Amino acid sequence: MDKILVHGGPRLSGSVRISGSKNSALPILAATLLTREQCVIHHVPDLSDVHYMLQILTHLGAEVERASGTVTVQAGKITTNAPYDIVRKMRASVCVLGPLLSRAKEATVSLPGGCVIGDRPIDLHLKGFESLGASYRVEAGNVKVFASRLNGAVCNLRGKFGSTVLGTDNVMMAAVLAEGTTVIEGAAAEPEVVDLANFLNAMGAKVEGAGTRRIIVEGVAELHGAEHAVIPDRIEAGTFLVAAAISGDQVTLQRVAPSHLQSVIDALRKAGFLIHTTETSLTLHGNGASKSLELATEPYPGFPTDMQAQMCALFSRTDGISVITENVFPQRFMHVSELKRMGAAIQLEGATAVIQGVERLSGAPVMASDLRASAALVLAGLQADGVTEVNRVYHIDRGYEQIDEKLNALGAQIERVKA
Ligand code: EPU
Repeated sequence: MDKILVHGGPRLSGSVRISGSKNSALPILAATLLTREQCVIHHVPDLSDVHYMLQILTHLGAEVERASGTVTVQAGKITTNAPYDIVRKMRASVCVLGPLLSRAKEATVSLPGGCVIGDRPIDLHLKGFESLGASYRVEAGNVKVFASRLNGAVCNLRGKFGSTVLGTDNVMMAAVLAEGTTVIEGAAAEPEVVDLANFLNAMGAKVEGAGTRRIIVEGVAELHGAEHAVIPDRIEAGTFLVAAAISGDQVTLQRVAPSHLQSVIDALRKAGFLIHTTETSLTLHGNGASKSLELATEPYPGFPTDMQAQMCALFSRTDGISVITENVFPQRFMHVSELKRMGAAIQLEGATAVIQGVERLSGAPVMASDLRASAALVLAGLQADGVTEVNRVYHIDRGYEQIDEKLNALGAQIERVKA
């Protein structure tokens, strides 16, 4: 298994181009199953999660071609069964359920298990499908969803932890070809949901209200092929902002949508960093001295759970006591014990991390447990004395395109050791 060696200390400066969003690209690629016609998707990041999605589409019968960041999919004839050996690699595989149900009136997908960030149920996705008239059965580790026809309906997708992003995507995709009007209350408002809605509309769907808590979908008889460019990855951008905050002189992010990152920008400004924005770029002036903060993760437009681990890394060396509460995935703290092995002083109290900033972190061998946790360990390594050895880097390759090369281009010293 590859590992990454992060040599602590170098200051970062320069500019970096942000890739297309993983969490937009995955459901958008799944949505190409909604039409027989060809779809062309640009700015698709080169990530292992994207490769898994393309494998699933191919398994389902689609013809898939990839040329650098552009993926062409034509799902002329499809099958409806996505098996365990592909699905288990990526939870986002569940987002083929909506399009398959919509187009073929049935879908069987191996049930995603839990993962290190917590239990990951799909009850809200299934509740949404049921409102549209579908039934489901769980058998032999698979969920089979089926309907003789789908009818528009009102459904509420708000759960115990707020809205569901992929659940909203799935129900929206199931509703686009349903008979009549569907109203999704308690919808997720993440920019990735808006991106998917824009793609669906480009295919001929009638979706309104994406980006708000109420999405209205008027069913149409069929969808056609479309071309679409995926939005910039706000979490990759946020991660680079934190890298710049940790060890930056002046770092500029190119091809970014600052409005998608407002809560992260606000938090970093409150922590004392100077950030300049244009419509498509962000510049952070690192001053090496951040202030402690209290933060809580929330569904969009609140502070993203996908940035929580990175902030733990930043606050590990910030004077004073910072407090981060995780409201979306209350168990998402696997990075904490690894950061503590590097000398961080973090106390977990339920879903809250209380971080007492320390003067120094020391490089150590650490284990990546999930995507954002691994990013946090790389960020901690940038500010640690000596070398941090991040093992199991396949986690980081799931969601960051060449993070080592991009950070090195800014002046970091990161080596990838091939197994
Ligand atoms: N939930 C339910 N029932 C459901 C679905 C979700 O109780 O049927 C709960 C979850 O357990 C969680 C909360 O609702 O407590 C929010 O989960 P959500 O469904 O929004 O998560 P997701 O759609 O499965 C996406 C991203 C995650 C990101 C979350 C929250 C993709 C592919 N994944 O997951 O991204 O953390 O939204 O913003 O879009 C990542 O990129 O590292 C990542 C984990």
